[in-house]
Amino acid sequence: MRTRPRILMCPPDYYGVHYEINVWMDTRRQSDHPTAVQQWSDLQDLLTAAGAKIELLDPVDGLPDLVFTANAALIYERRALLSRFRHEQRKGEEQYDAEWLRKEGFTVGLLPDGHFFEGAGDALFCGDTLFAGYRMRSDAPSHQLVGELLGHRVIPLELVDPYYYHLDTCFCPLAHGIAAYFPGAFDDYGLQALAEHLETLIEVDEEEAKSFACNAVVVGSTVTTNMGCPHFHDALRQHGFRPQATPLSEFVKAGGSAKCLTLRLDGEDAASWRM
Ligand code: ARG
Repeated sequence: MRTRPRILMCPPDYYGVHYEINVWMDTRRQSDHPTAVQQWSDLQDLLTAAGAKIELLDPVDGLPDLVFTANAALIYERRALLSRFRHEQRKGEEQYDAEWLRKEGFTVGLLPDGHFFEGAGDALFCGDTLFAGYRMRSDAPSHQLVGELLGHRVIPLELVDPYYYHLDTCFCPLAHGIAAYFPGAFDDYGLQALAEHLETLIEVDEEEAKSFACNAVVVGSTVTTNMGCPHFHDALRQHGFRPQATPLSEFVKAGGSAKCLTLRLDGEDAASWRM
């Protein structure tokens, strides 16, 4: 029997737009703290109601983006491949992520110096294939190495639009063989690779992609997104999912939404190796 879904989140105590490392971020467009706290806790409640057990990482003063736990690591069974952040501003997170994961019994692996790899933000299993976004944050050699380490096929996908700088902003595995994606974030080769390796692709339009429709958290048949994704929700219903929306505007200001705020610890529903 499968265990209860486990999701790592980090409370937004020290969250804010304190630097600019993606095109969404503008320090003059600050997040409203009480609203961010409310939005984060509403997301936590919705995921709990969907059946997940939420684990908490302690927030750290001076590390505002630690809330985006998707970037802590790539989880595979009881292994965690730690992120190697591209930007100086986030490198300080690595030690706290490693500490928490080790304490929880994960075997923590680290890519060699010089690699850039941003965990579940850029590497997502669908079935037994790892879909891997590169160029803006993670690099292609890191994904090849990850594939070798885990013994899984990797499909590298170049991200071509700076608004979709992490793969989880434009691609979301929903179940075996089915995923949502925003075509505008990929090049022709990437689009062809997605079409070849997935039986069903739900296309998200540009307006809803900008509302982070693809940055969805899947817990069983429940799919949680930011507000402003009605067409995507209709498509999800047609495929038998139960979509729900919750406001995440304060996190969008830093270039993140529902999925970025979570790290699935027992394997995503779409991954064939789920524990
Ligand atoms: N401000 C953060 C960054 O630019 C947002 C990270 C969003 N995380 C994600 N998995 N897409 O790194």
